Amino acid sequence: MGVRKMSLLQIESDLFETRKDKIYSLEQEINKYHKELHSGNMPMTGWVDWPSSLSVQAIEDLQTQAARVQNMATVMVVIGIGGSFLGSKACCELLQYEERTNGIKLRFAGWNLSESYHAHLLQELEDEEVVICVISKSGITMETAFAFELFKDFMHKKYGSSYKSRIYAITDEKNGALRREAEKEGYSTFAISESIGGRYSVLTAVGMFPVAVGGYDVRKILSGAAKAYSDLRIGNLSSNICYQYAALRKILFEEGRYVEAFSIMEPHMYVFSEWLKQLFGESEGKKKKGILPFSVRYSTDLHSIGQFLEEGNPICFESIITLASSVNGLDTSYEGKTYSQLNDIVCDAVYAVRQKNGTPIFRFTLGQDIAEACGYAIYFFEKACAMCCLLQGMNPFDQPGVEVYKHEIKELLKEK
Ligand code: PA5
Repeated sequence: MGVRKMSLLQIESDLFETRKDKIYSLEQEINKYHKELHSGNMPMTGWVDWPSSLSVQAIEDLQTQAARVQNMATVMVVIGIGGSFLGSKACCELLQYEERTNGIKLRFAGWNLSESYHAHLLQELEDEEVVICVISKSGITMETAFAFELFKDFMHKKYGSSYKSRIYAITDEKNGALRREAEKEGYSTFAISESIGGRYSVLTAVGMFPVAVGGYDVRKILSGAAKAYSDLRIGNLSSNICYQYAALRKILFEEGRYVEAFSIMEPHMYVFSEWLKQLFGESEGKKKKGILPFSVRYSTDLHSIGQFLEEGNPICFESIITLASSVNGLDTSYEGKTYSQLNDIVCDAVYAVRQKNGTPIFRFTLGQDIAEACGYAIYFFEKACAMCCLLQGMNPFDQPGVEVYKHEIKELLKEK
């Protein structure tokens, strides 16, 4: 009851039954937006058909470049912020216990302005062979640009003028300062399509190049995304679970549930929940509306936020995200149960108590093959997010509030 199964993702929630009429009252609107999303005419929707349009050659090229980096370096530093780094970090962390092929270490820079963080990172790189991968669609984001200057200087000192052959730039196909610099200096590049924005770009080279260099199975991630594409390209609401979840989010918002807790049961899902926070927060927080996404880590947050979700201000609903298979490997048990079994029991307990007290709850379970399920889930949530924003009358693909802060920084820098 309440379980919806897709090829690589399962969702359980009694909301599908209890809000059925409300869900179907949105059917016409959903059909309309579905057509628009797939029409090729809506701006910034290049990601929608992306998983089905990827050529074997494009994946080969990505792997060839990744192999080149693996041969010449022991560490690749990925410089970027927001949609230009969270997706790749989320995939690498999620897949960290899976088999890797020739992977090298990845480090992430430019996503904060901490002097200590960057100084320690530079120190760590002293005895390593380094490649830099700078990722910025606009090519002008201050945090990224500043870190890139810092690392170029380091690379110049370490490798002399040949350092340029150790730089990869992933940026807009035609425009921006980074594209111009890459062409002038002869860096290796990957192009970001004009029609794909930062937080919807994880399945492009933006996310997949670092993942490939890390030795993770990019082909499986992309094949999972292609399965999601094929499961979710149907406009028909009764067969499209992603649109049902999107409709439920809008319905819950209208019922006063303004906050979605993305709760994870495994520490290596943490950055994935941060990526969700970014995807939904930046897409949906507009026009004085939108659901506030936040990430919750279990079990530890059962001893903090768990209290709020159970008995606090009833503005929240919860989306627990868990794995079908956790890596076993410990020959120990408590009351006859392994760690994984106990974790499942905790998840069952949370689900049961939230249902009892009326806190709306979803339980997402990623399929057995984590790499494929990861690609599937990425596409699922991107599409759900876009549909939910459209249903609420928002543009899912712009971020005027973020641009305001970027502009303000420029003004302050000019003044000072
Ligand atoms: O999703 C987005 O568009 C943003 O989070 C951007 O990715 C982020 O602001 C970084 O922008 P850029 O890639 O232009 O440096």
